[in-house]
Amino acid sequence: MKAAPLPAPPLRVLHVAAEVFPLIKTGGLADVAAALPPALARVGADVRLLLPGLPAIADAVLHQRTIREIGPVFGAGRVTLRCGRMPFTHVPAYVIDAPYLYRRGGSPYQDSNGQEWPDNLQRFALLSWVAAHLAAGELDNAWTPDVMHAHDWHAAAACAYMAAHPSSAAASVFTVHNLAFQGLFSMADFGLLGLPSPFMAATGLEFHGQLSLMKAGLKFAHRITTVSPTYAREIATPEFGFGLDGVIRERSGELSGILNGVDQDVWDPTRDPALATRYSAEEPTGKAACKLALQAEVGLALQPDALLFGVVSRLTWQKGLDLLLAALPMLLKQGAQLVVQGSGEPGLEAAFLEAARAHPGQVAVRIGYDEALAHRLVAGSDAILVPSRFEPCGLTQLYGLRYGTLPVVRRVGGLADTVVDAADAERGTGFVVDADWPAALENALERAVALYRQPPDWQAVMRRAMAQDFSWDAAAQVYLALYGDAVAARRGVAQ
Ligand code: ADP
Ligand code: GLC
Repeated sequence: MKAAPLPAPPLRVLHVAAEVFPLIKTGGLADVAAALPPALARVGADVRLLLPGLPAIADAVLHQRTIREIGPVFGAGRVTLRCGRMPFTHVPAYVIDAPYLYRRGGSPYQDSNGQEWPDNLQRFALLSWVAAHLAAGELDNAWTPDVMHAHDWHAAAACAYMAAHPSSAAASVFTVHNLAFQGLFSMADFGLLGLPSPFMAATGLEFHGQLSLMKAGLKFAHRITTVSPTYAREIATPEFGFGLDGVIRERSGELSGILNGVDQDVWDPTRDPALATRYSAEEPTGKAACKLALQAEVGLALQPDALLFGVVSRLTWQKGLDLLLAALPMLLKQGAQLVVQGSGEPGLEAAFLEAARAHPGQVAVRIGYDEALAHRLVAGSDAILVPSRFEPCGLTQLYGLRYGTLPVVRRVGGLADTVVDAADAERGTGFVVDADWPAALENALERAVALYRQPPDWQAVMRRAMAQDFSWDAAAQVYLALYGDAVAARRGVAQ
C-alpha cells in the first residue's frame, strides 16, 4: 500500500515594514502591513512581521520574548531581537529593540519638526539587515522564512543583503507602495551599509550619484509588486517613474500590480465603533444621522440637503488638494459643504484653515491625525475627494465605496482601477476626473451635485458602491501564487 503524500508545510513568509496599524501609522502602508499578514494566514501561510522597535511598537507588541542578543551593529549599541504577537490579530511579530536608533518620539521617518532623522540610513539598514539574517536562518533557530517580503524603501535593502549573502535560501519580494519616497542618501555613507563594493555601482544602489535604498528592492528582489495594476504600468513610464522607470522597465517581467483590500474588521459601517449610528446598504438610514452628527461635530451648518464633500488625506502635492482649493469657489456656489481632515505641507494646511475661516458653516478643517474622526468623516460625508496627481492604490476611496460615500477621483493608479464613473449607468460607483487642472475637477463636482439632486439616481450609485468587494482575501490568494513564483525563481526553476 502506498503511503499518502505528506501535506506540504505552510509557506513561511516574513513581512518587513516600518509602520503598522494601529500601533503607528503615517499612511496606507500601515493599513497594509496590518491587514495583509492575517489575510495570508487565513489562506494557509505561516506569516510573521518584522518591525523596528519604535516606542509605539516595542511597547505594544504582546508577550515578547528574547530571540537573540545581536550586539552592536550600525552604531546602535545594544540590539536585541524579540518576538511577540500583534495586538488584535495575534500575528507573530519580531521587534528589533535598538533603543539608540528607534526609541524616540516623532514619526518613524522624521522628527517632530518634520526633518528626516539624520541617521535614517542606519535605522533602516538595521531593519533590512535583520530581515536578511532572519531569512538566512541565522537569528531564530525555530523559524526561517521561505519568502522575505519587504515593503517600501525602508525595508528594501534587505533584498540587497540577501543577494550579497548567497547562503540565504529564501526568496525576496519587494512591494513599492509609493515610488516618490525613495530613501536617498549620500554615496559617501555607502560604507555604513556593509555591502560589498560592487553594490555601489549603477547596476546596484547608485542613483544619479546618490545611494538609493528603493533601488536595492527594484534591482535585487526576486519579484516586485506594487499596489495596483495601473500603477504597475505607470511606474514604467517617465511621467510616473521618478527617474526609476528605466530600472523598472528592465524588470517588467518580474513586476506585477496587486490591488490592496479593505480591512473588514476596521472599516465596516455595520459595526464601526466610531459611529454614533451604524448602517448598511440594506438599511442606509443611519448614514443621514452620521452626516448630521459630523456637521455638528466639525461646526458645519446642519443642512441635510447640502452635498457634503469630505477629505481625509496627507496634505501633499501628490494628493492634488491644491486643485480642490482652486475649485472651491465653484463648490461653494453650488451650495455644497466641505470637511477636510489632514496634515502635511504648511502652505496647504494654512490655505485650508483660511478657507474654513472665510466660509464658516460651509467649510470645516481639522489639522492633525485622528483615526476615529476619519471614520466619522468617511461615514458622514456624501462624497469623498481623492483628486491625486498619482496614487499607487489609495485606500480612502475604497473606504468611501464601502461606506456609500461616493469617491471623486483622478483617473490614475489604483483610483482608476477601483472607481467607475457614474456616467456608466450600469457600473458607475463615483466620479472620475481625467486631467489635473481645476476645471476638470470642477466639472466632476458639478456632476456630483447634479446627481445628488436626483436622490433615486444617487442612491442607485451608492448601493452599487457599497456592493463592491475589495477584500484582502482575494489579494492574499494572488500574493500566495506570486510567492510560489518567487521561490521557484530563487531556486532557479523557470515558471
Ligand atoms: P497614503 O498612504 O498615500 O497616505 P492611502 O489612501 O493609501 O494614502 O492611505 C491613507 C490612510 O491614512 C487611510 O487609512 C486614511 O484614512 C488615513 N489618514 C490619512 N490622513 C489621516 C488623518 N489626518 N487622520 C486619520 N487618518 C488619516
Ligand atoms: C502609499 C500610497 C497609497 C497606497 C498605500 C498603501 O502610501 O501613496 O496609494 O494605498 O501606500 O499601499
